[in-house]
Amino acid sequence: MAKRKVNVALIGYDFMGRAHANAWRQVGRFFEDLPLEPVLKVIVGRTERKVAEARARLGFEEYATSYREVLGRKDIDVVDICTPGDSHMEIAMFAAEAGKAILCEKPLANNVAEAERMLAAVTRSEVVHMLCHNYRRCPAVALAKQLIDEGQLGELRHYRGTYLQDWLVDPEFPRVWRLQKARAGSGSLGDILSHTMDLSRYLVGEPREVSASLTTFIPERPLPEDPARRGAVDVDDAAQALVRFERGAIGYYEGSRFAPGRKNYNRFEINGAKGSLVWDLERLNELQLYIESGPQSGFRTISATDPKHPFMAAWWPPGHIIGYEHSFVHTVYDFLRGLATHTSPRPNFEDGVQNQRVLDAISRSATSGRWETVESASTRG
Ligand SMILES: NC(=O)c1ccc[n+]([C@@H]2O[C@H](COP(=O)([O-])OP(=O)(O)OC[C@H]3O[C@@H](n4cnc5c(N)ncnc54)[C@H](O)[C@@H]3O)[C@@H](O)[C@H]2O)c1
Repeated sequence: MAKRKVNVALIGYDFMGRAHANAWRQVGRFFEDLPLEPVLKVIVGRTERKVAEARARLGFEEYATSYREVLGRKDIDVVDICTPGDSHMEIAMFAAEAGKAILCEKPLANNVAEAERMLAAVTRSEVVHMLCHNYRRCPAVALAKQLIDEGQLGELRHYRGTYLQDWLVDPEFPRVWRLQKARAGSGSLGDILSHTMDLSRYLVGEPREVSASLTTFIPERPLPEDPARRGAVDVDDAAQALVRFERGAIGYYEGSRFAPGRKNYNRFEINGAKGSLVWDLERLNELQLYIESGPQSGFRTISATDPKHPFMAAWWPPGHIIGYEHSFVHTVYDFLRGLATHTSPRPNFEDGVQNQRVLDAISRSATSGRWETVESASTRG
């Protein structure tokens, strides 16, 4: 039987635009049980020449330069937001009012108030919503979640999460949008530590309080449009936080774009009463598992490429590894399954609000020099 088609409008066509376009294109070719058929309908950008090129390269039927016009169209079902944080709220609010299902890149917004308004809008409009923290859907990470939920690690004690890159080490690297608070909301905090923190919420539970520091090493950088002039960097270059979780575990988050040699070192280690787990994005198919009662004294490496592992039945035979882009395919797969049943898969905008509250507590602690409590629906009363 023919599947119902859903028309996708993708906003933004660079890094994440390309990753998401690939995901929408590939998902139906591999996941045979996909309930809906996505159509790459229209790609939206501000510069006509560039968005026209992107349309041809990424395989969309049409391009447009006004997202408002596109979202006003009756034939658009899904809006996929792949733009910097300062535009997420405006686009999502407009999309929600137009009754479109929304997939939004992380972090949901640039602050808690914006995130809350976005959640209120999707709740009011009753549209399906999801936040793209794609690392939850690397098979080895989803397998880690299964093992934890089965109790294989016992009571969780430690979460150590680091996300390190090195693209800002050169002081002459230009002041791109990621280095401006008005555009990005924060620096390494929202850009990469947010992934580490989201994974901790997925795997360990809710962070209750944090003690943090934010550091800016290079306060001025050349302006991209005029390298002879310099502009202020008003976001953190590196963010660190000690964390106490609600269920008793303790932990640590670190995000830095100043770690020479570390290209995309997104790694966590979890220690429980009965065992430990380690994962590193740069070896994304592998999960290191140590079980205290096991026959061996060391960690063993699970290749999470078996059909019994999450998402892997759709791909290749065991041992035929997958890559970074597949995490986005898995994200849109779950998004479309949610859309078919009118449910908002996790992480959704509710998680986006809670994630933003954790980032906010980290910022507050960096300013106050004290432990700060993470606001939550329950602490607000
Ligand atoms: N999930 C992940 O792992 C991951 C990785 C990188 C970035 N991101 C997130 O994705 C989003 C985009 O980041 P990116 O790396 O793709 O950035 P990018 O700079 O590569 O691309 C941004 C795109 O948005 C367009 N754009 C900017 N402002 C716009 C506006 N007001 N209206 C319409 N289009 C606009 C730009 O022209 C460009 O095409 C950010 O929220 C970022 O945090 C997520």
